[in-house]
Amino acid sequence: GDLGVVAVGFSGGQPKDGVDAGPAALIDSGLLHEIRHELGYQIHGDTDVNLYHDLVPASDPDYRGMKNPLTVSAVNKQLASQVYEHAAEGRLVLTLGGDHSIAIGTLAGSAKAARERLGREIGVIWVDAHADINTPETSDSGNIHGMPVAFASGLAKDDKDEYFGWITDDMRVSVNKLVYIGLRDVDAGEKKILRQHGIKAFSMYDVDRHGIGRVMEMALAHIGTDTPIHLSFDVDALDPMWAPSTGTPVRGGLTLREGDYICEFAHQTGQLVAIDLVEVNPSLATTEAGALETIRAGCSLVRCALGETLL
Ligand code: ARG
Ligand code: MN
Ligand code: MN
Ligand code: MN
Repeated sequence: GDLGVVAVGFSGGQPKDGVDAGPAALIDSGLLHEIRHELGYQIHGDTDVNLYHDLVPASDPDYRGMKNPLTVSAVNKQLASQVYEHAAEGRLVLTLGGDHSIAIGTLAGSAKAARERLGREIGVIWVDAHADINTPETSDSGNIHGMPVAFASGLAKDDKDEYFGWITDDMRVSVNKLVYIGLRDVDAGEKKILRQHGIKAFSMYDVDRHGIGRVMEMALAHIGTDTPIHLSFDVDALDPMWAPSTGTPVRGGLTLREGDYICEFAHQTGQLVAIDLVEVNPSLATTEAGALETIRAGCSLVRCALGETLL
């Protein structure tokens, strides 16, 4: 098949340096080579990492409590059109992050393309320790990587083009077609939003209770078996045992095998239109082995989502 790759070396959605080096670490460890030569995909787009330095303004003061708002908005606006261009050509789109704020752009791009090409709304499978659905007003941190679902769905909006006002209705995703898996660190304000909108969420409690196999069946039943799916995978969904090198690790997470299963299942549906793999930060592990382990886990998740382990 045809795969559009977007490598986003971006860290402005959160305060820690190094997550911008995530895509290069994944690519240097051979990911694209394997995708091309072992999985047989035809790769389009950048095998060079976008750093978006030209989009960083001289000054970027807080706005509605958000940090680096102009930068994060500008990067995502460009990213949305990159993803859209691939998807409009009928390519599956793989985005390597970067912090999770970049899902504002990836979701906007794939939502618009699916509406135009397929006449459909996309479903979103969001695999994460966190819900990332804070609005600027509910966020305690002001870090936009905790807000992408709010902006992508329109729960958070702004009139000003330079502050995400460029997100038009045709780029939005519906919270009714959103499913979370792996949650275990959700802010009080976010819990309220999840409840208010009846958003489907499978926490680690549900994974323990039902097993990942049943959880994925229920997730797919919620989204619908004929809906284009965007899989957004934050590596911190995995337990820090498997992925310690990430900005906001939370104990009690998915095993690597459960993570791989989620990706295999998503591939198996035949409905995948886009995959994000985010929050790999090679500089945060306390040991070199920890960084390599995290990169290896990220590569494994991506290969599974592209069909590697299915016979
Ligand atoms: N809920 C916290 C916040 O809003 C943490 C978000 C972590 N997000 C992530 N993509 N790792 O700041
Ligand atoms: Mn997370
Ligand atoms: Mn996240
Ligand atoms: Mn994080």
